[in-house]
Amino acid sequence: MRPFDGRRVLLVVSGGIAAYKSAILARRLIEAGAAVEVILTESAERFVGRVTFEGITGGRVHTSLWNRPLAHLDLGREADVVVIAPATADLISKLATGAASDLATSTVLAAPGPVIVCPAMNTRMWEHPATRANAVRLLDFGYAIAGPADGPLAEGESGPGRLLEPEEIVPLIGRTLERATGLRGRAVVATAGPTRAALDPVRFVSNRSSGRMGFALAEAAWRRGGDVTLISGPSQVPRPAGPRLVEVETAGEMLAALESALTNADILLMAAAVGDFEPAVEAASKITKTGHGLEVTLRAGPDLLMETRDFRAENGIFTLGFALETDDLLSRGREKLERKGMQLVAVNSALEPDAGFESETNRITLIDRTGAAEELPLAKKTELADQLLDRIEASIEASIEAAAGS
Ligand code: CTP
Repeated sequence: MRPFDGRRVLLVVSGGIAAYKSAILARRLIEAGAAVEVILTESAERFVGRVTFEGITGGRVHTSLWNRPLAHLDLGREADVVVIAPATADLISKLATGAASDLATSTVLAAPGPVIVCPAMNTRMWEHPATRANAVRLLDFGYAIAGPADGPLAEGESGPGRLLEPEEIVPLIGRTLERATGLRGRAVVATAGPTRAALDPVRFVSNRSSGRMGFALAEAAWRRGGDVTLISGPSQVPRPAGPRLVEVETAGEMLAALESALTNADILLMAAAVGDFEPAVEAASKITKTGHGLEVTLRAGPDLLMETRDFRAENGIFTLGFALETDDLLSRGREKLERKGMQLVAVNSALEPDAGFESETNRITLIDRTGAAEELPLAKKTELADQLLDRIEASIEASIEAAAGS
C-alpha cells in the first residue's frame, strides 16, 4: 500500500505500559507493506517480550549494542524513518542530551533520516519543565513529536500523556514517508458521507452513504502533504486522524461549511452523497401515529456543486466530483461534469456488486474535461483514493506547465 510498500521503518520501543500498543503498531505497519525492524530498550523488554515483536516482524528485533558490530549505524542508515513509540521521559531526556548509552540512543543519534517521537508518560512528568525543555530540543533537532494524547492514563489519572493510537501513528509515518508530491502545501477540501433532513425531532430522510470514499480521499491527500479540511455528514466509520474535521448534519450545513472552506482552497474532492430531497416542513414535535399513513411532501435541497460553481471557476479550484448512475454511465457522467463545473468525474454504477455505498471497494470510470474515459479496475476505496489523487496531481502539473508555456 502506498507509501509503505518496500519502505523500512525502524520502531524504537522504550519501557512504558503503552509498549503493548507498539506491538499493534508494528502489525499495522507490516500489513501496510512496510519492513519493520524493532529496537527494544532494556526496560521495554520488561513490558513486552521480544518474542511478541519477533512473531509480528519475522524476527527483526534488536536489544543490545553487543550482538552485531556496528548495528547502531546500520539500523539507522537502512531505515526510511525512525519511530520512537512509546518514548518515555527518560528516553526523551537522553535523546535531548545526545546520549549514546545503549542501542536505542546510539542508533537514533546516528540515524540520518526523519525521526518521529511519540511520547507516553504520566501527565506531571510530561508537563514538568525539564521534559518540556527536552521536547523543544528534539524539535530543534528536526524530530517530529506526535502526541501525547489527552485522556485516561494507566495509573487512574487523566490528562495529556497517552500514547497516540496506532491508527493515528500509521498515517503520520505515511505522511513522513511520502516523497515529493504536488499536493504539499495545497489547500484541499474533501466532503464525505450522507446528509440528513429532519422530518420531526426523531426522524430524518437520508441515504446509505458510509463516508468511506471521502474519508479515504481526505486521508490520502493529507498524507501527501495537503492542508486538508474534511467536511463530513453523519457516519459510523472512523474518521481519518490527520485532516481538520468539520462535522455537519444537513445539506444546508454542509453548504455553509463548504463555502467557508472553499475561500482559500486549491482542490475540492466532492465525495459526499448530499441529499437531493428534504421534507418541505419539519414538525416541531414528534409526529404521532394515527393508525393511518402519512403523506410527506419533499422539496429540492441545495445542490452544493451548482451553488459553488461560479466561485470555483473564478478561483481555479480543481474539482473532482462523483456520479452515481444506473443507466448511460458515460454520457450522464460527461453531462454532470460539464453542468456542475468539475475537472474530473468519477462515475460509478449503483447496480454493481462490490461498488458504491456501504462497500469497502469501488469500481470507477474516470472522465476528464476532454471527455476521455478511463476505467479503473475494482479496488479498495483506499487504493482508489491514491489513483484519483495521482490523476489530479498530473492534471494540475500539466495545467501549470501549459500556463508557463503560453
Ligand atoms: N452533489 C451536490 N449536491 C447535491 C447532490 C449531489 O453537490 N445536492 C454532488 C455530489 O457530491 C457528486 C455530484 O454532485 O459529486 C453528483 O452527484 P449525483 O448524486 O450523482 O448527482 P445528482 O446531482 O444528485 O443527480 P441525479 O441524482 O439526478 O443523478
